[in-house]
Amino acid sequence: MNILNGQRLVMGTCYYPEHWPEKLWKEDLLRMLDTGIEVIRIAEFAWNKVEPVEGKFTYEFFDRFLDLAEEVGMKVIFCTPTATPPAWLTKKYPEVLNADIKGNRYYHGMRRHYNYNSPVYKEFCIRITEKFASHYAGRKCIIGWQIDNELNCEMDYFYSESDTIAFREFLKKKYGTLEALNESWGTVFWNQTYTDWEEIYVPRNTCQNSVNPHQVLDYIRLISESARRFAKMQSDIIRIYAKPGDFITTNGLFAHLDNHEMTRESLDFYTYDSYPDFGYCLDMYDEDPKAFRDRKWSRNLSETRSISPIFGIMEQQSGACGWNTRLEAPTPRPGQITLWTMQSIAHGADFISYFRWRTCTMGTEMYWHGILDYSGRENRRIREIRQVHNLMEAIGEAAGAVYEAQVGVVKDYDNIWDAEIDHWHQRVDSVSQKSLFAAAQRSHTPMDYVYLTDTLKAEDLKKYKVLFYPHATIINKKRAKLLADYVAEGGILVVGCRSGYKDMTGKCVMDKLPGLLAPLTGTDIPEYSLIAPDAGKVTVDWEGTVFEAAVFTDLLEPIGESAEKKAAYTSDYYAGTCALVCNRYGKGQAWYYGSAFDEKAADVFLHKLGVASPYQDFVEAPEECEIAVRKKGEQRYLFVLNYSKEPVQITFHKAGLDLYTKETVAGKRELEGYETIVVKF
Ligand code: GAL
Repeated sequence: MNILNGQRLVMGTCYYPEHWPEKLWKEDLLRMLDTGIEVIRIAEFAWNKVEPVEGKFTYEFFDRFLDLAEEVGMKVIFCTPTATPPAWLTKKYPEVLNADIKGNRYYHGMRRHYNYNSPVYKEFCIRITEKFASHYAGRKCIIGWQIDNELNCEMDYFYSESDTIAFREFLKKKYGTLEALNESWGTVFWNQTYTDWEEIYVPRNTCQNSVNPHQVLDYIRLISESARRFAKMQSDIIRIYAKPGDFITTNGLFAHLDNHEMTRESLDFYTYDSYPDFGYCLDMYDEDPKAFRDRKWSRNLSETRSISPIFGIMEQQSGACGWNTRLEAPTPRPGQITLWTMQSIAHGADFISYFRWRTCTMGTEMYWHGILDYSGRENRRIREIRQVHNLMEAIGEAAGAVYEAQVGVVKDYDNIWDAEIDHWHQRVDSVSQKSLFAAAQRSHTPMDYVYLTDTLKAEDLKKYKVLFYPHATIINKKRAKLLADYVAEGGILVVGCRSGYKDMTGKCVMDKLPGLLAPLTGTDIPEYSLIAPDAGKVTVDWEGTVFEAAVFTDLLEPIGESAEKKAAYTSDYYAGTCALVCNRYGKGQAWYYGSAFDEKAADVFLHKLGVASPYQDFVEAPEECEIAVRKKGEQRYLFVLNYSKEPVQITFHKAGLDLYTKETVAGKRELEGYETIVVKF
């Protein structure tokens, strides 16, 4: 059975047989089936249940459980248990542990306390994966595998000795010679020149915690490569034993990891863990009435979709968040579990697995509630999930339909990681990323993230009328050519300030800015500045539409016959200077905007470029609602999601079929607080 089958939506839950008395298992499984849950994920933290002491393997525990799953007809996603190495292992082989930046080892007691590069840990992981896969993979009830759990969650920096050794290997392979490394890292600056590979370490505790940025960029690349290698090591083993058709995935979406490449080389598809209740956590709650709160998870879901156009949710919120040490959040209100499930489906999830079946009575996560509370008594949440199951059946034909977007935001890991370690880059990037998402959400303009991966072709970009690449700070010739090909074929590309000034090492280029992007954008940047704190509001006038520049100003000059000044700054010492260039290039246009995008600016671009609100002829909804469309053949499935707890009015200008009720909808319609509707048209 494939959970992404293109025919119907599938419901699951996360179950921990090791947390409950065995006599509860059967009752739990039958009750799940009765709720509409057909798939469970198990075993991701249960190493000791199979290898309780070093080298002694015992399979009975999960054998008994799987026998029962087969007896009742429950399908199982089985996990490798490598996220939580046993205490006997870390005690005897402490080199498997991760360390902090000062080199102090972490101890046993949490999870994810290992490092990917320890040769000893790798051997143990190969062995346990092999034991799990060879013993269990033939079971009829198993339909797929999850590798580890949330790679890079909680811990995305690694400073153990093994990481330093791996870093040296990584650098030798990348640069070949120390001369090349010194050149790439600019070590002549502050006399950092290396004369022996042994002098090189992962970043360490330095004065002011400031480590050579080119070194740190490579170090993050190493972390990503290490995590990918770790996943591949496991997936290669599982593939040997898995039954034909059984899938391999992993869950979560975390930093310092090229999830796209990992999925391409090791997984069948990606699964995400969606916890929108974080938006209501006591210490994260944003009072601003315009804050997106739970709706922000649509951004993560769009990121997930950029990896796998159709994906699964391995952990979907079903109760309150909460550790005993942090993350105090309320129980989802009536309707919110449905809303958040439909949010996932609207963005491309065809499998929804709730975290978790019953709330754990012990440990750090005893407040991270599942569908059921500790006692397992019938409750409001399980009743809601039964209804969600009915809705998932009702809209099942939307399975396999692909999210429709005419607008894309281009990203790449080099710039994401560079922005993380470079405050100047981060300042412009964070405001633009947030604002483009917000403007697209509020104007009901569905938007994709598009990653510049090594396998991406200009043809893949063709479906987008407009691409924003907000701050293409790091760029190389291959990427510049890909973008040029997209524009030449009729695409519209918009880049923002600070584009083209770094090479792949993160060093600044000596070309006139915007460097490799100058020919495509027809732009020259003779001068630039951060917006001075005493500058007041710096405004931009685009043919009568006035909005604010944000964070930074590149002062532009159009170059060449096809480039045109479209807007000017209207304040500070550069009033009158060009702020926006449009360059006709082939059949398309490349735009250079000299600033970062705040929400108003992003909205102006969406409207002026003619891509805002593509479904307004069909439906109108207030800002509180998100609109998303999935398309299969000629059929469109439109989701309207009301994130507000108050009712809202929406208007259908044309008739469509309400898939929940199978009734025609047209004209005005009220959506209750948190209510959703899925309309086929
Ligand atoms: C996820 C994780 C689960 C559980 C859950 C609630 O990040 O995969 O194991 O910890 O969050 O905290």
